[in-house]
Amino acid sequence: MAIERIVDAAEEADEQEQELEQTLRPKDFANYIGQERLKKNIKLAIDAAKKRGEPLDHVLLYGPPGLGKTTMASVIAHEMGAQIRITSGPAIERAGDLASLLTNLQDGDILFIDEVHRLHRTVEEVLYSAMEDFKLDIMLGKGPSAKSLRLDLPKFTLIGATTRTGALAAPLRDRFGMIHRLEFYTAQEISQIIERAAGILGIQVDPVAAQELALRARLTPRIANRLLRRVRDYADVNGDGIIDTVISTKALELLEVDELGLDPGDRMLLTAIIDSHNGGPVGVETLAALTAEERSTIEDFYEPYLLQIGLLERTPRGRKVTAKAYTHLGKQPKTNHIESQPSLL
Ligand SMILES: Nc1ncnc2c1ncn2[C@@H]1O[C@H](COP(=O)(O)OP(=O)(O)OP(=O)(O)O)[C@@H](O)[C@H]1O
Ligand SMILES: [Mg+2]
Repeated sequence: MAIERIVDAAEEADEQEQELEQTLRPKDFANYIGQERLKKNIKLAIDAAKKRGEPLDHVLLYGPPGLGKTTMASVIAHEMGAQIRITSGPAIERAGDLASLLTNLQDGDILFIDEVHRLHRTVEEVLYSAMEDFKLDIMLGKGPSAKSLRLDLPKFTLIGATTRTGALAAPLRDRFGMIHRLEFYTAQEISQIIERAAGILGIQVDPVAAQELALRARLTPRIANRLLRRVRDYADVNGDGIIDTVISTKALELLEVDELGLDPGDRMLLTAIIDSHNGGPVGVETLAALTAEERSTIEDFYEPYLLQIGLLERTPRGRKVTAKAYTHLGKQPKTNHIESQPSLL
């Protein structure tokens, strides 16, 4: 198994950390920093739904982990004045589990299904008519004597979250009235998120130190909050708890997070492509093998950020490191292989 990464955007496994994440979660639009386009669209839809006295259309949120999908779902519930039930794709094991979830909802409730791309096939099929007609089809009995029963469901809103829309079956995707992608944040927004979190946790951070942390947080709020806490630990042990630039620089060095937010895992990945594959292109399976990580880990955790900051690029023949990556790692390209190679297509 891979080493635990400080810059891992995956949800906190530790209960204490989960609780902290909960306290840091913005409750309404006013406190939800960034994602302006998403907020504008959702606000409009909420206003329209309220005006018509109808529930909000089903929403699909997608994007890399830790960017605020779960948070946005609870913000939407708050702004709609609706109750939210939270579950996840793999947690709903049987069609019956979903049926009982759905029948226990009330008009206007929000059902949030995290990792909606991991729903079981049979469960997913129940969702189709539930989303489309607010009906639940149940089969009673088996074989030729089987009967089907249609039940009315409350008018609920489904909010689904996924890291990849590509992994979602088309009939399911098509039933969402709104599909929104969460973008990486700007360093300035991350800096604001850090200052907000520091305020809530009672941590004193120098604004310049906050900016420095922001640059290394992979443009991801979850990582920003985690870096803040780790650097605070360092400040408590090695100083008076105040995070200034000296403390933050030293702490980040200790945590081996470099000025682009890369950790040893990322650097190993890029170095492997350069050293063993002359900079690429390589397929994602090769990347998985090079790093001993699951393919999905590469696709969800490593790649999106490396692509975003232009260290990696996608070509029809696979992933390639860019000139910027060579510079960042202090490596020299061997030949002209950075220049685009003739495509096979
Ligand atoms: N826009 C934001 N403003 C301030 N803090 C945010 C924002 N978005 C997310 N956060 C913080 O980042 C943490 C992670 O957000 P969240 O759990 O919503 O991510 P996610 O996209 O659901 O991730 P995953 O894909 O892993 O489920 C939250 O605890 C919250 O404190
Ligand atoms: Mg989440």
